[in-house]
Amino acid sequence: MTTDEFHQRAASFGGVADVYERTRPGYPADAVRWLTGDRPARVLDLGAGTGKLTRSLVAAGHDVVAVDPSEPMLAQLRIALPAVDAREGTAEQLPLADATVDVVTVGQAYHWFDPSMALPEIARVLRPGGRLGLIWNLRDDSVGWVDELWSMFGENEGGRPDDPQALPPFGPMERRTFRHEQRLDRDGLLGLVASRSYVAILAAPERHALLGRAGELYDRIAGPDGVVLPYLTHCFRSVRG
Ligand SMILES: C[S@@+](CC[C@H](N)C(=O)[O-])C[C@H]1O[C@@H](n2cnc3c(N)ncnc32)[C@H](O)[C@@H]1O
Repeated sequence: MTTDEFHQRAASFGGVADVYERTRPGYPADAVRWLTGDRPARVLDLGAGTGKLTRSLVAAGHDVVAVDPSEPMLAQLRIALPAVDAREGTAEQLPLADATVDVVTVGQAYHWFDPSMALPEIARVLRPGGRLGLIWNLRDDSVGWVDELWSMFGENEGGRPDDPQALPPFGPMERRTFRHEQRLDRDGLLGLVASRSYVAILAAPERHALLGRAGELYDRIAGPDGVVLPYLTHCFRSVRG
């Protein structure tokens, strides 16, 4: 991916905020607990988007501040979670004071950050002994049709990002994988495809062609209750020294 395409894709979510909110999966509660710990904490959900991870954090009893650079994504979050403090900002320049949060979570977004700037910023807002937790729902290729679906994106979508590396003052990254799944009808599956950053930036004819192929796949494999899309939820956590 070129640098231009990277920036275009990182900024593409605002254009698909509505379909993102309707079709992207949430996160398994046990995975969220593994990232944050059991006790209620002050949590920054960074790259919060429409609040898919934020709502699990709120449900677990945490006091959450959500940050994202995309106003259209935050507008969806404010509808779903009107009581949450939602602020415009980036991982590289956080709109929070020093040492004010216990945990920073990042759902499906760390790969859009510049770690050389984001990690020192995250360390700045975390209290000593606080945690950084990263989480991704990624494709489970062990199911044939799932592999076929994600293969439609070629090398532009899909594989797990490289394992994140912790730098001082963060300690070693611990890693754990959880299972997750999402039931989808035809519109849901097509919306999920349309919400991918690679698809969001395609010209209309190419996007329609790709959505057409995804629709044919759905029609071939769906049962009366739609399809169940399996995920492997990859989690990483590290303690700030
Ligand atoms: C795939 S969405 C994930 C949203 C949400 N966390 C979730 O789990 O559904 C990626 C989000 O990262 C945000 N993002 C992109 N670049 C960012 C940056 N440099 N700092 C913070 N957030 C960023 C995008 O605006 C988008 O909302």
